[in-house]
Amino acid sequence: MSGDRVLDDAGALAANDPSGMLDAVLGLPGQCRDGFRSGREAADLPSGDGVTGMVVCGMGGSGVAGDVVDALYRGRLGVPAVVSKGPELPEFCGKDTLVVASSYSGDTSETLACFEVATGRGCRVVAVTSGGELGRRARERGVAVVPVRAGFQPRAAVGHLAFGLLGALEAMGVIPSLGVEVERVARVLQELGERLGPESPASGNPAKSAAAAIGDRFPVVWGAEGIGAVAATRWRTELNENAKVPAFAGVLPELDHNEVVGWSPGAGERFVLLTLRHPLEHPDVAARFPVSVDVARSSGMLHREVRAEGDTPLSCLMSLLMLGSAVSVYLAALRGVDPTPIDAISRIKRELGG
Ligand code: F6R
Repeated sequence: MSGDRVLDDAGALAANDPSGMLDAVLGLPGQCRDGFRSGREAADLPSGDGVTGMVVCGMGGSGVAGDVVDALYRGRLGVPAVVSKGPELPEFCGKDTLVVASSYSGDTSETLACFEVATGRGCRVVAVTSGGELGRRARERGVAVVPVRAGFQPRAAVGHLAFGLLGALEAMGVIPSLGVEVERVARVLQELGERLGPESPASGNPAKSAAAAIGDRFPVVWGAEGIGAVAATRWRTELNENAKVPAFAGVLPELDHNEVVGWSPGAGERFVLLTLRHPLEHPDVAARFPVSVDVARSSGMLHREVRAEGDTPLSCLMSLLMLGSAVSVYLAALRGVDPTPIDAISRIKRELGG
């Protein structure tokens, strides 16, 4: 079946996606609402008074929750905030540091290692998890848990994880109140979801048409420092895990100081560049896109621009995340691969014990 016909055949899409990854992606608005409520209402959260720093520990899909907080609040919190993606907790963490252990399964070795050190040092700890070993240890030690609904792939629970964390941070007074913003974002995503769904034809569906534009090429995703960078990295990992393709992410302005040199004439012929744009980019960074894209195109790369929805940081970021996930699932359909299994990750976890 040709590309567009696969993408516009709801039956073929469903047959290719037996575990319902697309439904999970399109369920993002509900996840944001539920996750936020769950975080706000979590029992026994530590006090945010006098917190001198924050570290969010988490890997893969669970680490994205930390990236979202970082993109929204970097440099605006009054205390340093760090995302830690490894087994070591930064040395500065002590009793006035808020440490969030984010692991959907609760069984990820790096996150458990950080949790152990954080509780041992008397940090103010919060676990964001659907259960597993992290949930068990948190309950045993009286550590607050933001409960996340079970039954998803971790990467497909990004709304639960990120908004659960945001809700808890708001309740602790660590971030300013999001007020009506969560509902506003959920509405933006709902409206976007209507255009991204399986029934919406490729001609008017930005996710289907971006997947078709990628086709057999390798995707390279660029975004502007901050929101665009988090979105570009998340597109890369969704394309890796759902569509099972190698993919690459770059960030402006940094890539103008190195990566662009690699896109020499002819080097881009098997690649397609996706630039993720939003209205809140720093004007100096925004001004770099045209010439940087021009360099990339002169390497033989195709180019496609994708634009965020809404005009607030949260809606720009979440709409780009939703778009990337939908693109990856449609690309999986075009490539005839089931988006859900992640055999390589499962094998490595099995062999290394978590
Ligand atoms: C799987 C996925 C992975 C996991 C990662 C950490 O869908 O996205 O990147 O998120 O292996 O596992 P958890 O999230 O259970 O801590």
